[in-house]
Amino acid sequence: MHRFSLRKDHLWCEQVPVSKVAGAVGTPLYLYSYGTLLDHYKKLQAAFKSIKPLICFSMKANSNLALCRALAKAGAGFDVVSGGELRKILGIGADPKKIVFASVGKTEGEIEAAVRAGILCFNAESVQEVQRIQAVCQRLGRRQMVILRLNPDVDPHTHAFITTGSRANKFGMDVRTVESILRRAAEFPDLELGGLHVHIGSQILKAKPFKEGITKALQVADRARRYGVSIRWLNIGGGLGIVYRRETPQTAAAYAKAVLPLLKGTGLRIILEPGRFIVGNSGILLTKVLYLKESHGKQFAIVDAGMNDLIRPSLYGAYHEIVPVIQNQSRSRRRVRYDVVGPVCESGDFLAKDRALPPLKPGDLLAVMSAGAYGFTMSSNYNSRPRAAEVLVKGKIWTIVRKRESYQDLVRNERIPAFLR
Ligand code: LLP
Repeated sequence: MHRFSLRKDHLWCEQVPVSKVAGAVGTPLYLYSYGTLLDHYKKLQAAFKSIKPLICFSMKANSNLALCRALAKAGAGFDVVSGGELRKILGIGADPKKIVFASVGKTEGEIEAAVRAGILCFNAESVQEVQRIQAVCQRLGRRQMVILRLNPDVDPHTHAFITTGSRANKFGMDVRTVESILRRAAEFPDLELGGLHVHIGSQILKAKPFKEGITKALQVADRARRYGVSIRWLNIGGGLGIVYRRETPQTAAAYAKAVLPLLKGTGLRIILEPGRFIVGNSGILLTKVLYLKESHGKQFAIVDAGMNDLIRPSLYGAYHEIVPVIQNQSRSRRRVRYDVVGPVCESGDFLAKDRALPPLKPGDLLAVMSAGAYGFTMSSNYNSRPRAAEVLVKGKIWTIVRKRESYQDLVRNERIPAFLR
């Protein structure tokens, strides 16, 4: 499943002992396995090989240039949601014809940049957005494919914050709105309304909700043909769940087995937009124990990574396994329950609560597992903490793919006004 393993009580990433990298680069540190990243991309590709979909890696999960470049070289396309992601991915030579642009709030500037770049399509989320894309295309004299994001109103049975395809969510459009746009296709002469998009949420463990969403989209596609609109593309989104703890998510093969019967024979070209499935298990966050303390009978392990580095536990109550990087057999049988907390001044700043770990001491290195997706990309400078470094491991080679931020970086864009000098 991933290429992090214990060898003689030491955690290794591929052919590199993790402690060696932490010693050289310092902590907190994101460490990624190139092999694991590519394995997951290829697993999905293999599962769907009978229909050769366009797999657009969802950059919001991890937009590190080196990782994106590795996926681009393997043939992946990209799902971008901002002008920033678009700039980053074009900058590393990704093929614009494999880029899809989602987001409920694309600005005119972002739309223009994407049209000029010649992206494959926008995933449009409102009538007004479609009108704006039309206006931009008319002004630029360009033709552009737009696919309409349907909100199919299905429950993906995941965390409320990452549910996106039910009626309470801001995402997509209801069936009636999508169909009304398709009927009025003539009002958008510079757009090719060539497809539909459904993405119902993230960390989804079962195939059923995916099937429900796809079925609804296919019904709309059928009706659209009746108004003479040719729907050629179907983007079935991302959302595949991964193992963080004891989850038993569907494998890529099981997912494909469940949805392929719906897709085959439709003549539609399929787009997938996975983020977490590809990169989630490929990365870990390394942190060092600074202090241990007992307070009111509770044990705290205070570490040098906080909620600014990995916000998932604080924001979603997410579980990430924590593994000591060097495990001393003689003391490993005893377990202490720790709250593993960061240095940030918030009680919500924790990486784990009440977690059974071997007795820790200051200086011990801990690996927070499965932190490759929505780890670094959601990190911030809260408490004026420089963001972590990122390292990519491939076989015996490890290399820094993002420098740790410096204190200079923290103040780079700030100015003291003249009246305060
Ligand atoms: N496509 C669209 C339109 C999306 O909104 C997302 C994720 C994806 C694709 C990729 O989903 P994935 O395959 O990674 O599940 N920060 C949260 C996850 C937010 C997901 C946002 N949208 C977390 O850390 O769990």
